[in-house]
Amino acid sequence: MALKTLFLMFVLFFALFSSSSAQTCKSYSFSNNNAYSSCVDLSQLSSYLYWTYDSSANTVDIAYRHPGATSSDWIAWAINPTSTGMLGAQALVAYMNSSSLPYAYTSPISSYNTQLQAGDLSFGVSSLSAEYGNNEMIIFATVDLSSIGTKVNQVWQIGPVNGNSLGAHSTSNSANLNSFGTIDFQSGNSTQSSGGGSTQTKKNTHGVLNAVSWGILMPIGVIIARYVKVFEAADPAWFYLHVGCQSSAYIVGVAGWGTGMKLGSDSPIEQTTHRNIGIALFCLGTLQVFALLLRPKKDHKFRLYWNIYHHSVGYTVILLSQINIFKGFDILDPEDKWKHAYIGILVGLATIAVVLEAYTWFIVIKRKRSAALKYTHEANGTNGYGVSNGHGANGYGARSQVV
Ligand SMILES: *[C@@H]1O[C@H](CO)[C@@H](O)[C@H](O)[C@H]1NC(C)=O
Ligand SMILES: *[C@@H]1O[C@H](CO)[C@@H](O)[C@H](O)[C@H]1NC(C)=O
Repeated sequence: MALKTLFLMFVLFFALFSSSSAQTCKSYSFSNNNAYSSCVDLSQLSSYLYWTYDSSANTVDIAYRHPGATSSDWIAWAINPTSTGMLGAQALVAYMNSSSLPYAYTSPISSYNTQLQAGDLSFGVSSLSAEYGNNEMIIFATVDLSSIGTKVNQVWQIGPVNGNSLGAHSTSNSANLNSFGTIDFQSGNSTQSSGGGSTQTKKNTHGVLNAVSWGILMPIGVIIARYVKVFEAADPAWFYLHVGCQSSAYIVGVAGWGTGMKLGSDSPIEQTTHRNIGIALFCLGTLQVFALLLRPKKDHKFRLYWNIYHHSVGYTVILLSQINIFKGFDILDPEDKWKHAYIGILVGLATIAVVLEAYTWFIVIKRKRSAALKYTHEANGTNGYGVSNGHGANGYGARSQVV
């Protein structure tokens, strides 16, 4: 029953994630009423290229649209006639200039230390302009394709404006390093770097598996152990629920971890911290599973130490998981709604935990009181309570194990 709910949750999360892969560029209308015959969703940096190819003039009208760009970002879209990446890129750049107006210019890039200085490109560019509004920046231009052909390497980018200079783009975010591909303005065919397409799907899968397992199921398992335990009627059901929840979380989590290790070995960019925390989590999680097999009996003298060990490793796993999931969000850089949805679920779980914590204390204090009362009765010679007295002490015993 719990498993079914968890499975449904997983399916829902995955459906939400994958729905974002449908082509969305088509539904957009430009405020200046420009219309283009083709468009492509650029999965890295979540931006869009629109174009109309004019075969008789051998030119292409393009619009590069970057939602989420702020007034203190620069954006760039480039054709690289000589290579696939940044060096050699012939860039169209836009930002909000010191008069707070969207400003577009051209910049040929020959060094990784470029300041995006203005300069002429190796092909003709006309009608260059930029637009900014509704939290998105757009570059418009007409490019002369006569010297470069219709099939070109494209590169796109976003970075910060620091005062009067354009700062380097992020190199820790893989989307900034994988934002290149090819485009054929005539056929409409486009490819995106290995960071895009199927790798993007793998990254999303990795993110969903880990967010659901380490990020959501495991905290639910802890909540079950800590709060369901206090109800005497739920003993030993809480234990099986807890083990069931944590082992399914572990299985899904190991699958998520495996996809992460594979992504790491395929990727040219090292995500060292994210990877190391991931490895530590895998070890600690595995340790928890095996420690279960070595669990001493309830009244064994080592049980207290086992509990201390189990709880400290468990809470460490929960904490590290959250840190790593948020690191993952930074690396994957999905649309804000995914992070918001995840934070929403965490807030929900935290609220449930706080309410149950208060309720648990209420129950425990009540039990303690009635236990104390029964002792008094006993002292007064009311012996009939002997049995239920033991009961009350048991409830308390269970509670002190939780802490
Ligand atoms: C800012 O951009 C506008 C519009 O592109 C341009 O006319 C103006 O000269 C620019 N101002 C500065 C200070 O660069
Ligand atoms: C465009 O892609 C399709 C399908 O992938 C392919 O059949 C076609 O030859 C491509 N066209 C060009 C001009 O590359």
